[in-house]
Amino acid sequence: MNIDQFSTTELQSELARLQAEYGLLRRKNLNLDLTRGKPGTEQLALSSALDGILRGNYLTSNGTDVRNYGGIDGLDEAKVLLGEILGTEPSQTMIGGNSSLTMMYQTILFALSEGIEGPESAWGNNDTVKFLCPSPGYDRHFSICEHLGLEMVVVPMLAGGPDMDVVEQLVAQDTAIKGMWCVPRFSNPTGCVYSDETVKRIAQLGSIASDHFLVMWDNAYAVHAMYEDAEPLASIVSHCSDAGTLGNVFLFGSTSKVTFAGAGVAFMGSSTANISALKAHLAFQTIGPDKINQLRHVLFLENTHTLAKHMEKHAAIIRPRFECVLAALEAELAGTGMGTWTKPRGGYFISFDSLPGLAKEIIALADDIGVKLTPAGATFPYGKDPLDCNIRLAPTFPSLADVQASIEAFVVCVKLASVRQKLG
Ligand SMILES: Cc1ncc(COP(=O)(O)O)c(C=O)c1O
Repeated sequence: MNIDQFSTTELQSELARLQAEYGLLRRKNLNLDLTRGKPGTEQLALSSALDGILRGNYLTSNGTDVRNYGGIDGLDEAKVLLGEILGTEPSQTMIGGNSSLTMMYQTILFALSEGIEGPESAWGNNDTVKFLCPSPGYDRHFSICEHLGLEMVVVPMLAGGPDMDVVEQLVAQDTAIKGMWCVPRFSNPTGCVYSDETVKRIAQLGSIASDHFLVMWDNAYAVHAMYEDAEPLASIVSHCSDAGTLGNVFLFGSTSKVTFAGAGVAFMGSSTANISALKAHLAFQTIGPDKINQLRHVLFLENTHTLAKHMEKHAAIIRPRFECVLAALEAELAGTGMGTWTKPRGGYFISFDSLPGLAKEIIALADDIGVKLTPAGATFPYGKDPLDCNIRLAPTFPSLADVQASIEAFVVCVKLASVRQKLG
């Protein structure tokens, strides 16, 4: 029954029942954690063969000795393999170290301080630099902006991606807006896949925005489908080719959630000119990335077919965890009016929206009985969720039994907070 239809007496007896249930949970001394968007041990084990795969062969097909210095933009064979994930040609692709987040930070820093197209183009020449942040979104994107002094502008997230009417209006009106974050497939945290129309409109932003506008296309979950029928993502590279705007887009990805989260390979793509400019900038920081790890990955992942088979194994491990969370939410909260949630077909997160004003309280209630949830507000710029309602659930890392126990406790906290709010 919907909470709005409860009489005060019904709400009071529901409150007493929930308080008793919450008390029982407290006595269980739970120690559970749904905060971490990282692969579980079983997933990491899928890639254990990376260790030792080179068997002493350190030469690539063109004779490069991967143990030595050099190759700042990565191995050719890695560009072919990983560029295919991004949809970029080898000349438009750069392979880095273990973190795509590092590459994103370096790109923004470069655009800000030196300018991708030379000193005249540096964003830092302006008093104010603003960035569009579709929200809820990924907290570390927002931290980069905050750390580097970029003013964040919230854009609503819809089922098919950012609200493009709002985006287009903002970039056309405000020349201080220099970029936009995107997690286009299985977005963090809503799990949505940007619609074809959204991808096309984002590709065209370079034509309507101010000069030196950059789309930060963080395709972290490009190959992370949990179901065969998961929505594909339109190619922003081909839309950019049509619009002549590839220079306005930087694409990113990594194998952090394909092989090892701490020892994967990160990669990025953009126009050949942008990649050359970035290469020159990076030469001040490094003589080259870890090519041994790149070669290991090339041998292990082989081609897109092998990669897809490998990702099916990940899906088989994490799918039951997602289904467990969704089944509990459906069984306990559907039709109650106490929350809504996303049903992603891939990625690492489920996004839950409580009644307005309750996210902090639900998270505190859960914390009190030993269930850690991502801090309230983390999915919004400056940690401020205007409606205090969004909660990110990350079910991949705990065991299935722990996911079950966590979500059972979570729904009790949601109900308790909602009933208390209704009673005023
Ligand atoms: C959207 C998104 N981008 C990037 C990352 C981090 O990527 P990497 O490990 O390649 O730095 C994450 C990790 O959770 C993420 O969710």
